[in-house]
Amino acid sequence: KRIAIFVSGGGSNMRALVEDMTGDHPARACVVLSNNADAGGIAWARARGIATEVVDHRPFPGDRPAFEAALNSALDRHCPDMICLAGFMRKLTGGFTDHWAGRMINIHPSLLPKYKGLHTHARALEAGDTQHGCTVHEVTAALDDGPILGQASLTISQDDTPDTLAARVLTLEHQLYPAVLRRFAADDRSPVFLQG
Ligand code: GRF
Repeated sequence: KRIAIFVSGGGSNMRALVEDMTGDHPARACVVLSNNADAGGIAWARARGIATEVVDHRPFPGDRPAFEAALNSALDRHCPDMICLAGFMRKLTGGFTDHWAGRMINIHPSLLPKYKGLHTHARALEAGDTQHGCTVHEVTAALDDGPILGQASLTISQDDTPDTLAARVLTLEHQLYPAVLRRFAADDRSPVFLQG
């Protein structure tokens, strides 16, 4: 399986996925794509010899379909079988998610269906939750809403702050995402549950 990985920033999840795709793993990264030319993940992938694409969203203000057409033409050059969103911070319309239905997954830093959207760690702390974590799900038109493929959970400690919690969850993300991709790339949809 040929995997396209979308990043917007440092790409720590992309790096975890790439570093797991070795040996008898059924998949390899065929391209790392970002909307941000300065994304650390792009530099890292280039240094690693992985093809990269930058599709800036700013030339398409208010025209998501045009941006997504540019995404698809950049992707076509690399013939991916599926897409992993990994810290990709642009919303995708139903047109794009339908085209990639069943072939695009995402990692979100909460125990979905709780805390869709942003600022998940602060919201979990604010709510006084004792459990928190991350979720890998199939991407559908609705934000952070598709079928769940795996979750990793941890117990919030009383001295956790949004930053300490984000760091602990990110460590779980780096374990969960590769585990889910191994199954998904082998067409195994059985869910992964990890305890951090
Ligand atoms: C992190 O907040 C992570 O929880 C979320 O995207 C952000 C950046 O991740 N998935 P990465 O280091 O760019 O993979």
